[in-house]
Amino acid sequence: MRSLRTGLSLTSLVAGLALLLTAPAAHAADTPLRDLGTAKGKVVGTAVTGSKLTGTYGDLAGAQFSSLTPGNAMKWESVEPAQGSFNWAEADQIVAFAQAHNQQVRGHTLVWHSQNPNWLTNGSWTPAQLTTLLQNHIGTEVGRYKGKIAAWDVVNEPFNEDGTYRPTLWYNGLGTDYIAKALTWARAADPAAKLYVNDYNVEGVNAKSTALYNLVKSLKERGVPIDGVGLQAHLVLGQVPSTLQQNIQRFADLGVDVAITELDIRMNLPSDSAELAQQKADYKAVTAACVAVARCVNLTVWGFTDSDSWVESTFPGQGAATPYDANYAPKPAYYGIAEALGGTGTPPPTGACTASYGVGSQWNTGFTGNVTISCSGASLSSWKVTWTYGAGQQITQAWNATCTQSGAAVSCANASYNGTVPDGGSVSFGFNASWSGSNPVPTVTLG
Ligand code: XIL
Repeated sequence: MRSLRTGLSLTSLVAGLALLLTAPAAHAADTPLRDLGTAKGKVVGTAVTGSKLTGTYGDLAGAQFSSLTPGNAMKWESVEPAQGSFNWAEADQIVAFAQAHNQQVRGHTLVWHSQNPNWLTNGSWTPAQLTTLLQNHIGTEVGRYKGKIAAWDVVNEPFNEDGTYRPTLWYNGLGTDYIAKALTWARAADPAAKLYVNDYNVEGVNAKSTALYNLVKSLKERGVPIDGVGLQAHLVLGQVPSTLQQNIQRFADLGVDVAITELDIRMNLPSDSAELAQQKADYKAVTAACVAVARCVNLTVWGFTDSDSWVESTFPGQGAATPYDANYAPKPAYYGIAEALGGTGTPPPTGACTASYGVGSQWNTGFTGNVTISCSGASLSSWKVTWTYGAGQQITQAWNATCTQSGAAVSCANASYNGTVPDGGSVSFGFNASWSGSNPVPTVTLG
C-alpha cells in the first residue's frame, strides 16, 4: 500500500503542473468596417503593400476595406526608377486585388517633392523639359489605369506650414501653375477619376489648411478640374484638432469632396492600455467628423496593422499607430472607427485574463483540483472556465464556482459573489473529482 501511495503521489506531482492559457474574451463577430461605412455612405480604405496581400493581411485588407491606396507602388520612383524604364508590377497587383475584392483604388501620387527617382531629382531641367516630363508622367500613369482608379492624389504636399508654397522641383521650375497643369493633364488622361490635392497638417483650421482652401477656391473659379481635398491625418495621440469637422465642412461648402487619406495616430512606445483607450477615442473622433459631413466620402488608414506602418521607422520611439496590432488583432482603435460608423461590436479588453488549472492533493481514487483566473490589463464581471477531461475524471463537488459535467466536458461558472476579477486581481475555485488509471491535466479555456 505504502509503495503504491508513493507511486501515486509522484503522478500527482507531474499532473499538478498547471497549464496556463491565454483566453481572448469572447466577442460577437463584428460587421466589417467596409459594410459599416457603406451604410453611412462612406468608403473605408487602407494603404497597402502589394507583396503582403496574402494570408491574414490579404484576408483583412479584402474583408474590412472598400478602398485601397498603394502605400508606395504608384510613386514616381517606384514606377519609373530609371528614365524610360517602367515597373508597374506592384501597382498592377494592387489594382487587380482591389478589383477581385470589389474595392476602389486611390491613386497615390503623381506630383510630389519626395520619392522621386534620382535621375529626376538630380537632373537639371529647363522649364520646358520639366513640363514635358510631368505631362508625360501623368499621361502615362493615369492613362495606364484609366477607368480603374476612383480618385487620384494628383498633387501631394504643396504647402509649407505657414501656407506659402513649398519650394520643390516643380514649384521652382514651373511656378504655382504646376498644380493647375497637373490637374488638367490628369483630367485629360482619365475623365472619370476624381482629382485631389492632398496634404498633411491641414486637418484643422490653420494657416496651411487656409492656403489649401484658397488654392481650391481659385482653381474652381478658374475652371481647373479639382474634385476633392485629401487631409492626410498623420496625428499624434490626444491631438485630434478640435476644428476638424468645421474644416471638412468648409471644403465641402466650396463644392469639393473631402477624404481622410492617410489616417494614423501615433503614441510613445511601449503603449499601455490608457494610451490605447485614448487612441480609440481619437479614431472615433476623426471618423465621427467625417460621418458628420456628407461630402467626406472616404476614410483611409495609412496601413491597417502596426506591422505595416511607416510610423516606427519615421518617428523614433513612436508607433502603435494603426487599428490592428502587429498580430492582426483589432485594437480599441478599430472599435473606435466601428462605433463612429454605427457598429455595435464588443471590443475585447486591451489586456488579457488567463485561467490556470492545478491539482492539489491526489489519492488512489480521487483528487482535489483548483483553477485560478487572473487578469492583467483587463477585467471580468463574470467568468466561465471549460475543459475536457481526457481520462474519465469526474467532478464530484465544487466550491466557489458552479460546475457541471456532461460526459468529459466540464463547465464552471462564477458563484454569485466572485464574478468580478479586477485588473491585476485573481479569483480561484476548487473541486473534488475522481480518477483512475491516469489524471492528465486538461487544457482550460476562459470565455
Ligand atoms: C510613406 C510610406 O508609407 C513609406 O513606406 C515610405 O517609406 C515613405 O512614404 N505622406 C504621404 C505618403 O503622402 O506617401 C507617405 O508614405 C507618408 C506621408
